[in-house]
Amino acid sequence: MSFKLGITGGIGTGKSAVVADFKELGAAVLSADDVAREVMAAGSPVLAQLRKTFGPQVIAPNGGVNRGVLGQLIFADPAKRQQLNQIVQPLIRSKFEDELTQLAAQHAFVVCEVPLLFEEHYENLFDAVLVVEAPAGVQQERVMSRDGLTRVAAERRIASQMPLADKLERADYAINTDGPEQLRQIQVQQLMNHLAEN
Ligand SMILES: Nc1ncnc2c1ncn2[C@@H]1O[C@H](COP(=O)(O)OP(=O)(O)OP(=O)(O)O)[C@@H](O)[C@H]1O
Ligand SMILES: [Mg+2]
Repeated sequence: MSFKLGITGGIGTGKSAVVADFKELGAAVLSADDVAREVMAAGSPVLAQLRKTFGPQVIAPNGGVNRGVLGQLIFADPAKRQQLNQIVQPLIRSKFEDELTQLAAQHAFVVCEVPLLFEEHYENLFDAVLVVEAPAGVQQERVMSRDGLTRVAAERRIASQMPLADKLERADYAINTDGPEQLRQIQVQQLMNHLAEN
């Protein structure tokens, strides 16, 4: 039997960094963002539907989705965000479940990065859920420097998500990434040991 750990948190809280730490320790990893990218890859039938719903500007010159344009559209407009989710989430979910089943058949420990784990109700796919947290100010600085956003734009993105406090309330485990890399890695190691013992 394989142990399946779901990882979520807010934008820029360090989910991908924590997943990379787990991978370093030998875990098999799956990213819902990667699955979403695959679902919306050039040539996928869903692109025609996105073009029809959101306009030709959401299609990039290479025929794939223009994530920047689509991101702007949906962050600015909750109704559009809901429309996008209705189109793509069922496809992402079904591909994600297939890939998770395959990995779990081959690996003892699988960790999955799922940014919308609670919002899209992925809880039941996992044996435990880990929320990666960082103080609001740190989260904001990271989003600003990594994505080149202004403070206001970063605040808006963070505010558009389910509050981190609500996610922490639903979590089985939490890791705080405020601090040096090494401290994060130690927490990951400790959690991995704990899960292996139980
Ligand atoms: N412990 C840490 N100390 C300093 N910086 C960190 C730490 N952990 C992560 N970071 C940095 O914070 C930024 C965001 O981290 P990461 O990409 O892992 O977040 P994320 O939660 O996966 O974000 P997203 O929601 O966009 O997928 C990265 O630039 C990363 O290098
Ligand atoms: Mg990430």
